[in-house]
Amino acid sequence: MKILVIHGPNLNLLGKREPEIYGTLTLDDINGKIRATASDLDIALSIVQLNGEAEIIDAIQAGDYDVLVINPAAYTHTSIAIRDAISAVGKPSIEVHLSNIHRREEFRRKSYIAEVALGQIGGFGADSYILALIAAKNITPQR
Ligand code: DQA
Repeated sequence: MKILVIHGPNLNLLGKREPEIYGTLTLDDINGKIRATASDLDIALSIVQLNGEAEIIDAIQAGDYDVLVINPAAYTHTSIAIRDAISAVGKPSIEVHLSNIHRREEFRRKSYIAEVALGQIGGFGADSYILALIAAKNITPQR
């Protein structure tokens, strides 16, 4: 099984970006944890961090994966284009957030991605990605 992990805009700043919300781990720290779990679960992995909406869409369309794990960051709440890319490609996708978007500002409660994702995992920091990998591993083909 091959998983593509996409980290969206501003997640390259993790560690110094609002640590009271997003924690003190850097993106490299988080990617290290993701890679270790993928190795334990025998999952082949690609990880990218992309600030641009078009770049994210290009990565989704490239389609070189079985399951997409995506933290669309702020595009979660705005991007019909990313939603449509996920829907068009039709691969199983899991939406991930470090924070619990439902207990923050009102505008974060709307996710355009949730409508095309198998599920949404948020609120557990780096562990949100780990939980997503476990869920991805257990996805059965008919879902
Ligand atoms: C985020 C939540 C989004 O609302 C925010 O815009 C982000 C990060 C999260 O991982 O908690 O950039 O996706």
